[in-house]
Amino acid sequence: ISVPWDIISAEKGGFKHFMLKEIFEQPRTVGDTIKGYISRDYILPFKLREFRRIILLACGTSYHAGLVGSYWISKYLQVPVEVMYASEFRYADIPVDDRDLVIAISQSGETADTRYSALSAKERGATVISLVNVMGSALDRESDYTLYTHAGPEIGVAATKTFTSQLAVLYSLSVSQLPNRDEYMEKLSAVPNMMEEVLGNAENVKKVALKYTNKKNMLYLGRYLSYPVALEGALKLKEISYIHAEGYPAGEMKHGPIALIDENMPVVVVAPKDRVYEKTLSNIEEVLTRKGIVISVGFAGDERLKSMSKDFIGIPSVDEDLSPFLTVIPLQLFAYYIADHLGLDVDQPRNLAKTVTVE
Ligand code: G6P
Repeated sequence: ISVPWDIISAEKGGFKHFMLKEIFEQPRTVGDTIKGYISRDYILPFKLREFRRIILLACGTSYHAGLVGSYWISKYLQVPVEVMYASEFRYADIPVDDRDLVIAISQSGETADTRYSALSAKERGATVISLVNVMGSALDRESDYTLYTHAGPEIGVAATKTFTSQLAVLYSLSVSQLPNRDEYMEKLSAVPNMMEEVLGNAENVKKVALKYTNKKNMLYLGRYLSYPVALEGALKLKEISYIHAEGYPAGEMKHGPIALIDENMPVVVVAPKDRVYEKTLSNIEEVLTRKGIVISVGFAGDERLKSMSKDFIGIPSVDEDLSPFLTVIPLQLFAYYIADHLGLDVDQPRNLAKTVTVE
């Protein structure tokens, strides 16, 4: 007998798209990445705290990972930190010298903007660490030190699993030189199982997503670590569904985006119980007053949040600093199910390239 199959469907491992497969791989890929940083082998030959400043440079989804990382770096390392789009850094007159550490984040390690901005910082004396998923990539070769994400090849143009692996490396790096590092790494090691739980709820996310497939605009809000997650959720939606979506820090909503809210505007709010939880709920009140449709991601069993939301997606309770690993997953799935329902080419969205080697 002959069984018809083709190499592409075989590689998708039973999933309809690479993107969906990659979303579901995350507990493993984050686990693999953490394994690489649990041992102390990768220890850097300098003290991170001795730099006057740490600059994170990246594009797209990697930039959002950098934003999350910047909160960890300031908190755990107490070093002033800046995050910039690589394309902006290169042509701005940012003073950089040998007192600075640059962390260039790029899944492919080939993104032209990220490479050239890292090189220009290096020329001016900065120490450059690259954070890449592809060994031997240009950025890997051009930087002083490389930290790898062990996410495996990512085929879907919209980055998913490499984002959470970048988070794992950035968290590991932020705590790597603390005396109680092992405690933090232990907390991080519990994350993959929690991610698995979030994925167990995918059908529920799908049900929610399918209610919003006819929308033309959406707003994504979050504060503190959920702010970059909101940006990433909005980016995923626009990339693959072509629905206009804007991510915003929830506290900034009153300075503009609030004007957009009416009974047709879905507002996705990322609201884990963290230091800004109460503030985020007040922002939800502001949305409700304008009749906006609230879709929230929060801790399972959070009745208060649930009662304020048209749709609620629960995730396991987690230490506030680790919440992005979990909150981003429903947003990836939400975008995926909408785009798939619309019959779009999820893995190869129009006008986008996996790797952008032009400036
Ligand atoms: C492209 C991809 C994005 C990615 C960005 C940065 O725009 O479509 O998914 O986030 O490049 O890529 P990098 O390889 O530098 O992380």
